[in-house]
Amino acid sequence: MSFLQRWLVFAAAGWLAAAGLLSAAEEPNLTPEQMTEFLLNAKVINSKQLGTGKTHPWRLTLSDGTLTHDAAFQPVDILKNKEVIGGQTILNFRDTYHFNLAAYELAKLLGLGNMMPVTLERSWNRQRGALSWWIPKKWDMTNYPKPVPDVDAWNKQMYKVLVFAELVYDTDRNQGNMLVTEDWKLWMIDFTRAFRQDHNLLEPKNLMRCDRQLWEKLRQLDVNEVLAKTKPHLGKSEVQALMARRDKIVKAFQQLIAERGENAVLY
Ligand SMILES: Nc1ncnc2c1ncn2[C@@H]1O[C@H](COP(=O)(O)OP(=O)(O)O)[C@@H](O)[C@H]1O
Ligand SMILES: [Mg+2]
Repeated sequence: MSFLQRWLVFAAAGWLAAAGLLSAAEEPNLTPEQMTEFLLNAKVINSKQLGTGKTHPWRLTLSDGTLTHDAAFQPVDILKNKEVIGGQTILNFRDTYHFNLAAYELAKLLGLGNMMPVTLERSWNRQRGALSWWIPKKWDMTNYPKPVPDVDAWNKQMYKVLVFAELVYDTDRNQGNMLVTEDWKLWMIDFTRAFRQDHNLLEPKNLMRCDRQLWEKLRQLDVNEVLAKTKPHLGKSEVQALMARRDKIVKAFQQLIAERGENAVLY
């Protein structure tokens, strides 16, 4: 069982949720377009470098005069001929904020935009980087309380995370890169080490079930649309690899459907 699979809850757990536990976080009620507008134009009034994670991005506080909100600024942009991670040698290793931008654009194409913070490119402190809306997280995967109140809803989010992680060949879907808000919503962040050029899947066993809308959108995903939306953040070979993995994901689910029946796989 992979570490991602362990987050799926296989046993039924009872409802824990007390009414107060699920009260909405005090967030302004903005559309993604309004968040985009804010992130592009608001002034940075405070900054703090983050101590957690690997690349230490920044937590910025922005204000447009009316609204004040935080955002994460990730300027990492590294290309190495070779990097060894977990005993595996990766050639042409890229660790780059461009992949955060590509991941968000791709997520939107697949109808998964609401599982990621709004993310766009901006300059700050004489650096280009990816700026993303600060998620008012209550937990991440290291410290969320168990059992989760609604196992079915939790797993249905997790299956989408697993499919997306295969598509983008995400070598870093670690526990700090999955945030959980008070309403038990899962958020994916930090794709700077995804989008490897492998045409194979990373953990095909992680493909267990698939949301029906995601399934349709995956099958319809068009190489030219992906190229256009992820430009200039992904190169041609990164997109080619992504499309090859898409084909393998579709094949894997078709096989599962043939074995188990559609309703056991798609939901
Ligand atoms: N948009 C965001 N909203 C809330 N917390 C964030 C956001 N971006 C980053 N963080 C927090 O900062 C940590 C480090 O950021 P991350 O993008 O994962 O960089 P890295 O792991 O490379 O240092 C994350 O684990 C998370 O706790
Ligand atoms: Mg991280």
